[in-house]
Amino acid sequence: MKYIIGNDHGGIDLVDSVEEKLLELGHEVEKIGTYTKDSCDYPDFAKEACEKVLANQADFAILICGTGIGMSLAANKFKGIRAACVSDVFSAKMSRAHNNCNVLCFGSRVIGSEVAKMIVEVFANTKFEGGRHSNRVEKITEIEEKN
Ligand code: RB5
Repeated sequence: MKYIIGNDHGGIDLVDSVEEKLLELGHEVEKIGTYTKDSCDYPDFAKEACEKVLANQADFAILICGTGIGMSLAANKFKGIRAACVSDVFSAKMSRAHNNCNVLCFGSRVIGSEVAKMIVEVFANTKFEGGRHSNRVEKITEIEEKN
């Protein structure tokens, strides 16, 4: 699978760990985030990453800012993006198994690199369960279409 990693200055500290974990799992990585601690705007990176996912230039995106919140808010404005902001492994698993999320967000001011790597691993290794969850995800898409 191909993953985009996007980050602002607040998310920079976790980028190397996330990239390392994805490569170790055998995935392809494209980094589109900032490389410096100079202040910048997280929606710019969320936009670029989500556009690539929606254009099938990547399968998933991982977006990292200070909290993960701003990135997830921006990402969820895109039709077809289901972004989860998580800081624990169980939620990361459920974001794939039940919600079929295609974007994972977290904050480097919230979690450390070891937890981030565990979250990335479980997200990458968990498949959408479908079944009753498909109906629910379709209802989210309906809301998106109508609002
Ligand atoms: C930047 O200071 C910070 O606001 C940003 O990284 C993010 O946490 C926003 O949600």
